[in-house]
Amino acid sequence: MPELRHHEIAEAGHRILNPFSAGKLRLLGEVGRVGPRTRVLDLACGKGELLCQWAAAFGARGHGVDLSEVFLAAARERARELDVADRAGFEHGDAGRYRPEPGAYDVVSCIGATWIGGGVGGTIELMRPALAPGGLLMIGDPYWNEPPPPGAYAALGCAPDDFATLPDTLKRFEAAGTELVEMVLADQDDWDRYVASQWWTVHEWLKANPGHPDAEAMRRFAHDARHSYLAYNRRYLGWGVFVLRPGPA
Ligand SMILES: C[S@@+](CC[C@H](N)C(=O)[O-])C[C@H]1O[C@@H](n2cnc3c(N)ncnc32)[C@H](O)[C@@H]1O
Repeated sequence: MPELRHHEIAEAGHRILNPFSAGKLRLLGEVGRVGPRTRVLDLACGKGELLCQWAAAFGARGHGVDLSEVFLAAARERARELDVADRAGFEHGDAGRYRPEPGAYDVVSCIGATWIGGGVGGTIELMRPALAPGGLLMIGDPYWNEPPPPGAYAALGCAPDDFATLPDTLKRFEAAGTELVEMVLADQDDWDRYVASQWWTVHEWLKANPGHPDAEAMRRFAHDARHSYLAYNRRYLGWGVFVLRPGPA
């Protein structure tokens, strides 16, 4: 899985693998009324910062699933560091095939990985069975700030339909039978911190590993990422976490 390996290298210095600050992650827990009785399932949990932070700040309990052993090792280490390993557990697996205990969670989140269900609608269908009555879904996903020029799609590696404007994103949530009840959106600075700090990490990695078999691919990765971010992503792409309450199935 070369792409995942590139992200593991480029995001070695990140705790949150999205354009989101620690402050906004906490705010998301607050607006979602996360507390000591809240059970959270985090699909594609990355380095587990959401579960670890919410366990430490609010006393929540949670379970995370991810494909990357590198990110999962960091998640377990973070849980030990925050002394929440008894409340935040992590498991290796494909979140698209994961079959959680039905109705066992008050919050089911998928922050930045809606490809696990083939898009927003499919991911909501995937998440819904794990949700307890009255529970919340939280989906982190990009959206178009404004329709981008045609060159953006190839540069960003996406199809026009992969994302929608905010009003059309709302329509997607409604079409999937959910009501949007809150949201926390990234700002320009969150994006810069997420993306630009990867340039530094890759630059340092290449200095330390000039002959590594992945070195050429990482050079291309950094070159393409810089160009697509400055030419398109920074202006046209927004990102946020949307808090949804599902209606009856
Ligand atoms: C953009 S990162 C977001 C990670 C985390 N939610 C966060 O906000 O820090 C996407 C994550 O999805 C994971 N991933 C990709 N495909 C997956 C799959 N099919 N099942 C589980 N995890 C997956 C990657 O390993 C990575 O950790």
